[in-house]
Amino acid sequence: MNAEYEIRRFEPAAPGEPGYPEAVAWDNAVSFGFHEERSTDERIQESIARSRVDGAVYTGAYQTGQPAPHSLGSEVPVATFGSQQSTLNIGFGRLLDAHLITGVTVRTSHRRRGLLRRMMTEDLALANGNGIAIAALTASEASIYGRFGFGMATAEQSITVDTGAKFRLDHVPEGTVEVADPTVLLELAPQVFARVHGEQPGSIGRQEFYRQLAAGASSREGGPDAKVKAALHYAPDGTVDGYVSYRFGGWDKTPATMEIIDLVAATPAAYLELWQYLAAIDLVERITWNEAPVDNPLTWALTDPRCVAASNPRDLLWLRILDVRQALEARRFATDGTLVLKVTDGLGLTAGTFALEVQDGTARVTASTEAPDLELDIAALSSIYLGAVNPVSLAAANKVREHTAGAAFLAARLFAVERPAHCLTHF
Ligand SMILES: CC(C)(COP(=O)(O)OP(=O)(O)OC[C@H]1O[C@@H](n2cnc3c(N)ncnc32)[C@H](O)[C@@H]1OP(=O)(O)O)[C@@H](O)C(=O)NCCC(=O)NCCS
Repeated sequence: MNAEYEIRRFEPAAPGEPGYPEAVAWDNAVSFGFHEERSTDERIQESIARSRVDGAVYTGAYQTGQPAPHSLGSEVPVATFGSQQSTLNIGFGRLLDAHLITGVTVRTSHRRRGLLRRMMTEDLALANGNGIAIAALTASEASIYGRFGFGMATAEQSITVDTGAKFRLDHVPEGTVEVADPTVLLELAPQVFARVHGEQPGSIGRQEFYRQLAAGASSREGGPDAKVKAALHYAPDGTVDGYVSYRFGGWDKTPATMEIIDLVAATPAAYLELWQYLAAIDLVERITWNEAPVDNPLTWALTDPRCVAASNPRDLLWLRILDVRQALEARRFATDGTLVLKVTDGLGLTAGTFALEVQDGTARVTASTEAPDLELDIAALSSIYLGAVNPVSLAAANKVREHTAGAAFLAARLFAVERPAHCLTHF
């Protein structure tokens, strides 16, 4: 298998540069892997331009032998794997460099020959070697990545909000909301998001695509989206501290519905005011949002919480600690305490027994020969790292073995963060 395929890593080149066709072939292979329609030259160029802004690295697996006659040529990768650097908010305002993985596909006729395993193993070892303490991804299927040490760390859900007569917010209005041309979000969206990113545990720094999405300059379907509308929230001092971009579902939908494309608010007041605005849109009685937080202040602010119907709770962010000591020492902890953790790691990157000693919220992590309080795989430690997954639940599911009574509960208190962790970024 090793000789059958060559793995190549490269930064996507710009149009006119010698490496551009290789980048185009890679992009096409990703679209094929996710069953998307064939892209136009223009769309591919836009996609590659965004990857260049994001500093993405493309990895492809290429056939070394002669491909079957009439089949795709050897210049088209049979497997793809993308990565880029970003930051993850790990609680209490701390940002940690994170290695993001995306664009993972293996062509059907070459699957289950170990290509994903090979690309993943090599990529994680490289990131580890570059001093990165954590890797992150979002998964198409929840059964794929646990074997590589990734654990589910945050969740999201879809909501449908009834904005008819029952919708009433119990809040004190603060600031104002105004409609804006969505293109202003090309500039404003990254500014508002930067504030949120600095304060929201679980947040992953956004890619170039997001400001274009919010502005209607690009869409998940491909090109620009002329249906996109936008509203901004102004704080009492006049600064824009929140925005929502949304689109109408069409007159044939009953009840008439607006779909939120992106909603980012830097303060609780901005969040509720934007909801107040959405609920006030005439001729519309329903708002849908497919990327809502599981722990949603809106529900608690409504006099009738049943205006919010939640569905499809699902995993969003998967994390993989690459260096236990570095990742734990980077965190600020909610309480003081000591735990000895025995960590297993199928890829052998960061296995060992570690003493985690927290004093005044700061951790010191050392190799330990003492009997462990908790024994767990690196996937489970990665799950509890952001404080959104309870170690007590993992112990009940045999994902954490508790050797000292109460150790899982101590871990829950140690790893807690200042507000519910939530990731606003898909990648
Ligand atoms: C998921 C995918 C990338 C797997 O690639 P692959 O090269 O066939 O995977 P490998 O042969 O390296 O398999 C690695 C391991 O993962 C397992 N595995 C692979 N795909 C799996 C899946 N969909 N569900 C459960 N396990 C899976 C294999 O059984 C193997 O297990 P083992 O090493 O413990 O025996 C490929 O099926 C694919 O392209 N799917 C469609 C696109 C997609 O979903 N991409 C993921 C985006 S997040």
